[in-house]
Amino acid sequence: MRVAVIGTGYVGLVSGACFSEFGVDVVCVDKDGTKIAALERGEMPIYEPGLKDLVGENVKAGRLSFTTDTRAAVSGADAVFIAVGTPSRRGDGHADLTYVFDAAREIAQYVNGYTVVVTKSTVPVGTGTEVERVLHQVRPDAKIDVVSNPEFLREGSAIQDFMRPDRVVIGTGSEPARAVMRQLYRPLYLIETPILFTTRETAELIKYAANAFLATKITFINEIADLCEAVGADVQDVARGIGLDGRIGRKFLHAGPGFGGSCFPKDSLALVRTAQEAKQPLRIVETVVEVNNRRKQGMAERVIRACGGSVEGKAIAVLGVTFKPNTDDMRDAPSLDILPALQAAGATVRAYDPEGMKEAARLLKDVTWCDDAYGAMKDADALVIITEWNEFRALDLRRVRSLLKTPVMVDLRNIYSPEDVSAAGFHYVSIGRPRPARNRKQ
Ligand code: UDX
Repeated sequence: MRVAVIGTGYVGLVSGACFSEFGVDVVCVDKDGTKIAALERGEMPIYEPGLKDLVGENVKAGRLSFTTDTRAAVSGADAVFIAVGTPSRRGDGHADLTYVFDAAREIAQYVNGYTVVVTKSTVPVGTGTEVERVLHQVRPDAKIDVVSNPEFLREGSAIQDFMRPDRVVIGTGSEPARAVMRQLYRPLYLIETPILFTTRETAELIKYAANAFLATKITFINEIADLCEAVGADVQDVARGIGLDGRIGRKFLHAGPGFGGSCFPKDSLALVRTAQEAKQPLRIVETVVEVNNRRKQGMAERVIRACGGSVEGKAIAVLGVTFKPNTDDMRDAPSLDILPALQAAGATVRAYDPEGMKEAARLLKDVTWCDDAYGAMKDADALVIITEWNEFRALDLRRVRSLLKTPVMVDLRNIYSPEDVSAAGFHYVSIGRPRPARNRKQ
């Protein structure tokens, strides 16, 4: 089996590396020569645990290579994966498919023999048909089938998610294409991964519906957290109490500052637009998008309240700026709303993130970037935890207290116990949990 993967972003690079680990010959293509040169030197463009080793081992074994030459990669490939970006189109929130169609036009020029073209990029319903039209327009003679094979991997656990997925979705009406896909995913058959064969449109919609559902679940628990605060209940117990019901499930019920990342915000919005165009509006998803945006914007207010109603002239220590731990990705991270709002209210910000500071420094201005968590706290008036990196879970509270000017801790991920932190002398604010009595009196 020979495979070409067009696009070495998150999905393309991880999929390419994992297919090569399955024993397939993989060539990853990108137009960006600098990126390809770096990959050839073994340098990863993203921080993803385990990826560097996986790529290194498969390059060494001769199963994985990188190139800017689409022709060399595509001609003779059994399958060509399109894994380019589908960003939100500026202005209307539709998925921008420019890169997908550019890739299709290029692939069409170079295919020879029967080739399965697979869209792995998240694309709106109907894109597969459009890709097929473009391919046949450029090469009416080519023997091509177009398959939708959405990818459900999460950043930070991408390799595990690809190698041991809950399911694989393959959308096509063509039996020869199904046979190629079956062959590619054979190692997953062997571990009894459910493989779902559907129509192309259904596969495309499954991906958006999955992301929108998960985004809804998070937004639901975030609103319940706000209600918990108003009525004196504990959102973590509520999440456990409902999550133990097998119909609901315990995952994705962690209340926090609102979801971010490269997928949920963009895909929920794109689904809303698709539904509006189809004259079947998805009112729940529309509300999720709106509530989540407002939530992220409102988080700074929570910090300001914890600081006694004003942060004017105060220094705020921030731990974690990426949209979640184990990634350097800053896309739609809550920190991008929170930090500028604190600065606008007169605060100065000292921040630390284990992997995200390089990218964050481009996006966030006038922040003092620190070498470690404790460095950020020195002489600060409050500590705010935005991203739940493991290294923030067991801070030495006595040391934290001695470094901070005032012992205020705002934990937007509920990684500490209100009792412990209050007992250590902090004014502690978290999400959707009652404050211990001693804290309330302050
Ligand atoms: C997501 C989907 O999980 C994945 O299947 C899809 O392919 C791409 O989008 P990812 O964006 O990497 O993956 O991260 P995920 O772990 O799903 O988290 C997304 C956001 O939701 C983060 O901002 C995270 O902090 C937030 N989140 C997640 C919560 O606030 N609470 C939760 O319970 C779970």
